[in-house]
Amino acid sequence: MSNLCVIGTGYVGLVTGTCFADLGNQVICLDIDEERISKVKQGIMPIYEPGLEQVVAQNVKAGRLFFTTSYEEALKDAEFAFIAVGTPSGVDGEADLQYVRAAAEAIADIVDHPIVVINKSTVPVGTGDWVAEIITKRRNERPLDFSVVSNPEFLREGSAINDFMVPDRVILGSENRPAAEKVAELYQSLRCPIQITDLRTAEMIKYASNAFLATRISFINEIANICEELGADVTEVARGMGLDKRIGRAFLDAGLGWGGSCFPKDVKALAHMAVLHGTQPQLLQAVMEINRNQRRRMVMHLRKTLGGLNDKVIGVLGLSFKPNTDDIRDAPALEVIHLLRNEGAVVKAYDPQAMEIVAKYYPTIPLCHDPYQVAEGADALILATEWNEFKQLDFKRIHQAMRQPVVFDGRNAWNADHLRAMGFRYFGIGRGNL
Ligand code: UDX
Ligand code: UDX
Repeated sequence: MSNLCVIGTGYVGLVTGTCFADLGNQVICLDIDEERISKVKQGIMPIYEPGLEQVVAQNVKAGRLFFTTSYEEALKDAEFAFIAVGTPSGVDGEADLQYVRAAAEAIADIVDHPIVVINKSTVPVGTGDWVAEIITKRRNERPLDFSVVSNPEFLREGSAINDFMVPDRVILGSENRPAAEKVAELYQSLRCPIQITDLRTAEMIKYASNAFLATRISFINEIANICEELGADVTEVARGMGLDKRIGRAFLDAGLGWGGSCFPKDVKALAHMAVLHGTQPQLLQAVMEINRNQRRRMVMHLRKTLGGLNDKVIGVLGLSFKPNTDDIRDAPALEVIHLLRNEGAVVKAYDPQAMEIVAKYYPTIPLCHDPYQVAEGADALILATEWNEFKQLDFKRIHQAMRQPVVFDGRNAWNADHLRAMGFRYFGIGRGNL
């Protein structure tokens, strides 16, 4: 059992702290957002993450998990301090590290015992050295016995607890190997491969992994766009490709492309690092461009099919960037809605979880209370996020409700033959029909 502090109780910090508590450690999660901490203390989660509420409650009840806004309280007994604060994109794509700096400075100002500082947030290559420098400089007069370890997270929203508890691997990087081995002990009970390398390599593994996953998606989307012109079905292409063990089937789902708080930010940050250090990230630039275009192509197809968008009523099913989360950061649905409204379309939408957040940040988007209300009087219906509850809709009722039975399946989640047999004009992504 160890004493851990997690700085930043966001999506990553809260899941990380809770899961470490579940493994038997004493954990204090800190956040500077008073409201967030007071809500978590009442058992109200700041994010929708399946199963999280229960695991938090169990560990709070067991006396292993605490929440605070006080750095003093959070750090006083901590042997390990995980930095999991936001690292949002800066002006031209570089990661904004102001919050990482704030956390490092707080550790330097408060801690007077040996501590391992762990970068859990996704940070540019070299940040580990930078954090060490900040702490060393700040403790020039009173040297602190500390080391820095990079321990990037590979959590997917909507399956974050499982991704923590059953990871494919744990990556650790440090210039102080014993420190990395101490962190490795925290993960021993997960019985998964643990790779220990140096700081920069560990930081690069995170970026390269996310950039590769994003590349796979942009690749299959480019293939989908070619399939549309050549009359092939990309869902079958992906199946055939995936049977090759060297390729695998995962992350080959063509659609509106990737959004969320990681892929967009991390691919941009990696490209920015490359340019900053004099190399040309051609592939990463293309990966981002293809992803941007997927949203625009959807609008182009709608414009062509409906003979213009002005005054057309368009229903959008799904607003979160993917199913099983309420996270709308860089959600394709929101950009499609923005582009449609720019051309005079009247848009309405529904999402099983993200309505509250959308109403708060995008109050002008008319929200419906269910998919059928979205379909009412619509000239077209878009599936933007493939929530399970959209997969078996009462399409007879949808057909009757719509002004024109035109559906755009932005995630290839619906059965084209079934819908066409019911009289819909069905358009998928790369289904050889646009
Ligand atoms: C964040 C990064 O965005 C991501 O790149 C990294 O991989 C993991 O950490 P996420 O947890 O989604 O991901 O961030 P966010 O949901 O923005 O939560 C960050 C939390 O840190 C917020 O609750 C914020 O209030 C808190 N924070 C921010 C602090 O506690 N201290 C600060 O100085 C700044
Ligand atoms: C991702 C990485 O998977 C995770 O390892 C990392 O820690 C954080 O970033 P996340 O962004 O939560 O996780 O979701 P993910 O399931 O990877 O999906 C990312 C985006 O890609 C979503 O918008 C999803 O709709 C899209 N996607 C995913 C596709 O368009 N096609 C696919 O085949 C898979």
